[in-house]
Amino acid sequence: MLEIKELKSPPSLELFSELVELLQDAVAGGASIGWVQPPSTKEARNYWTEVLEAVGRGERMLLVATDNHVCAGAVQVLLGQKQNARHRGEVQKLMVHSQYRRRGIGQALIGAIEKAAAARGLTLLVLDVRSGDEAERLYRRCGYEFVGSIPGFLQSAGGGFDPTSIYYRRLAASGQA
Ligand SMILES: CC(C)(COP(=O)(O)OP(=O)(O)OC[C@H]1O[C@@H](n2cnc3c(N)ncnc32)[C@H](O)[C@@H]1OP(=O)(O)O)[C@@H](O)C(=O)NCCC(=O)NCCS
Repeated sequence: MLEIKELKSPPSLELFSELVELLQDAVAGGASIGWVQPPSTKEARNYWTEVLEAVGRGERMLLVATDNHVCAGAVQVLLGQKQNARHRGEVQKLMVHSQYRRRGIGQALIGAIEKAAAARGLTLLVLDVRSGDEAERLYRRCGYEFVGSIPGFLQSAGGGFDPTSIYYRRLAASGQA
């Protein structure tokens, strides 16, 4: 059974290892989410440790999807910290493990993080995605508005550079930040 939960406290060691594997799987599959080469296990563990610390400081939201208690995907929102930015967040690192794709989990993660963000009082989400990626279709399907694209924004594994597309979506706030 698919469950999507916001992670607010440190995960079990098992879930932590699955998050490490999720990141490595995504980058190995060619995802443009910050790495050109797949991170080593140590690098991936350090990455998630920093994410979880930021979650603990209230700077990030992290939602994890599990299928029968096994991690299938995750998504984050980096929360605006400046006084004039507390109503907005940046959707980052949407990942669904390659074994769980094309079942609607990506779309469900976006729906869930929008709901959680609105409940915190956020009224605006922004994001960027490598132009033409499957994720771009997903964001459009979820109602994100295209702003424009920036050529040469992302370095690719082949050594070239790819454009990125910028999107936003307004949320109807359902709670207080
Ligand atoms: C982008 C990503 C998160 C999508 O995850 P996903 O769980 O496969 O997403 P969904 O299942 O919601 O949608 C993907 C496709 O499956 C289709 N789909 C959804 N449910 C389906 C089902 N039950 N049966 C068949 N197809 C289905 C969707 O219509 C969509 O099709 P399209 O791409 O042709 O329009 C995933 O491919 C991924 O992790 N990529 C690597 C990381 C990455 O690039 N992240 C983006 C960072 S900006």
